[in-house]
Amino acid sequence: MIISASTDYRAAAQRKLPPFLFHYIDGGANAEHTLRRNVSDLADIALRQRVLRDMSQLSLETQLLGETLAMPVALAPVGLTGMYARRGEVQAAKAAAAKGIPFTLSTVSVCPIEEVAPVISRPMWFQLYVLKDRGFMKNALERAKAAGVTTLVFTVDMPVPGARYRDAHSGMSGPNAPLRRMLQAVMHPSWAVDVGLLGRPHDLGNISAYRGDPTGLADYIGWLGNNFDPSISWQDLQWIRDFWDGPMIIKGILDPEDAKDAVRFGADGIVVSNHGGRQLDGVLSSARALPAIADAVKGELAILADSGVRTGLDVVRMLALGADSVMLGRAYIYALAAAGGAGVSNLLELIEKEMRVAMVLTGAKSIRDISAGSLVRELGR
Ligand code: GLV
Repeated sequence: MIISASTDYRAAAQRKLPPFLFHYIDGGANAEHTLRRNVSDLADIALRQRVLRDMSQLSLETQLLGETLAMPVALAPVGLTGMYARRGEVQAAKAAAAKGIPFTLSTVSVCPIEEVAPVISRPMWFQLYVLKDRGFMKNALERAKAAGVTTLVFTVDMPVPGARYRDAHSGMSGPNAPLRRMLQAVMHPSWAVDVGLLGRPHDLGNISAYRGDPTGLADYIGWLGNNFDPSISWQDLQWIRDFWDGPMIIKGILDPEDAKDAVRFGADGIVVSNHGGRQLDGVLSSARALPAIADAVKGELAILADSGVRTGLDVVRMLALGADSVMLGRAYIYALAAAGGAGVSNLLELIEKEMRVAMVLTGAKSIRDISAGSLVRELGR
């Protein structure tokens, strides 16, 4: 398997993974229009080529929420990462830390906070959902604090689960799901040995630690489904703001008015995101939503963006549209599934190289130089 482009990992992941896992990460909500537009709208944004500007000195380093990032990229929270590679959260977090960028552990990770935080060389970020079980939320926040987590990423676009039809077809859920998953695992022996057998326990590490008994994949669907809280509002977040004294990022903002509310609430950052097209199909792509949000709140809090970022060129495009940094979700899970932590490291190298080419040829010597002026106006916005 020769990986020469950051986008090659998707096909490699599809070959390696049992279909229920591939489609869970690859799929989106309903007819997946937003999922596709996240990618195609970004690809349609025309970069403005500039030449002969002495680009010998280039810096990709940036400051974000009190941290230095080697490049403006963080790994997004992704549930069940440990099903994509053996103890996958640990492998991905190590690769991110070695590259000098943050890793965000999901609430519904396989490896618990205490397994990941101590073995990586930089502080971790932790993601939390708004859940009915406030006892769990408080417990998770306390444990994150104790493990030295710096930044809390609070996901707000999942008050109800999106309609993920691929999961019902693939065996992730639906009739005979456990039997179908077992058969698929048998047909993918390298995954079955590496992750299925040697990657155990396969429970939701953070939740098992709280409940005091193991939770499995069946519990994942059940627990999340039962625990989403549609009653949530900004007022409910106040106790978390009071409890968490570090930086807090609100993830799942797609509208300038919500971005302004996040500023009023006292958030330190937002992630402009439609959850990778996994929640409300038909909403704007992040690339199209971002400029108006940046116009509304740029400079008042950190603006991160995700959904559709697959390449270094996409990172530059998101920055040009107004983001301070991006998050990668699917892109790094494909690499992790295909080649473990080494795959994530290689992906990050490829993304950096792609960014360097884009910066040299748009005349941006530093991350600050990437702006609306890096885009061809008529096509870019
Ligand atoms: C969970 O956040 C998911 O998108 O599946």
